[in-house]
Amino acid sequence: MKKDLKNKRRDFLMNVCPTVAMAFLGVTVLESCSSGDDDTDIGNATGNNGNGGNNNSNSGSGYTKSGNVISINLDHSNFSSLKSNNWMNFTAQNMLILKIDSSTYRAFTNACPHQGNRNNWSFNSSNNRFQCSAHGNSYPSDCNTAGTAGGVLKCYTTSLSGTTLKVTV
Ligand code: FES
Repeated sequence: MKKDLKNKRRDFLMNVCPTVAMAFLGVTVLESCSSGDDDTDIGNATGNNGNGGNNNSNSGSGYTKSGNVISINLDHSNFSSLKSNNWMNFTAQNMLILKIDSSTYRAFTNACPHQGNRNNWSFNSSNNRFQCSAHGNSYPSDCNTAGTAGGVLKCYTTSLSGTTLKVTV
């Protein structure tokens, strides 16, 4: 009789234990899934950090574009000619940038009002005009006065915060 009881208990445990083990395994699997989600979050966070790095002013190009706003890191080497020449043709975003003083910058389209040439510019600091060598026309940098070809060199809105110049195009 005692032996029968022992056998019944063993049978019971053998039948129940796998179920219990599965239950525990199930919990473990669920926890694993949860960890997977956490890993995904960490992955996103890392991605965000990566984006943060891109937004960082020390990123490769020295500027970022969000919608119609271009944020330029004036300390970046890609914009060093602004310091040495007080102007540059920022061809990647089709704009001319002019430094008026340490706290004032202007930005213009680099499409010449005459026939749209973008890469023939120079700046004459003696009369504050941009000169397009394609056909010899020049344009005042005051955002208002027409140039020799009749059109005004279109200005964009700018704002300066520290060393970040924001241009709304
Ligand atoms: S396109 Fe610039 S002067 Fe003609």
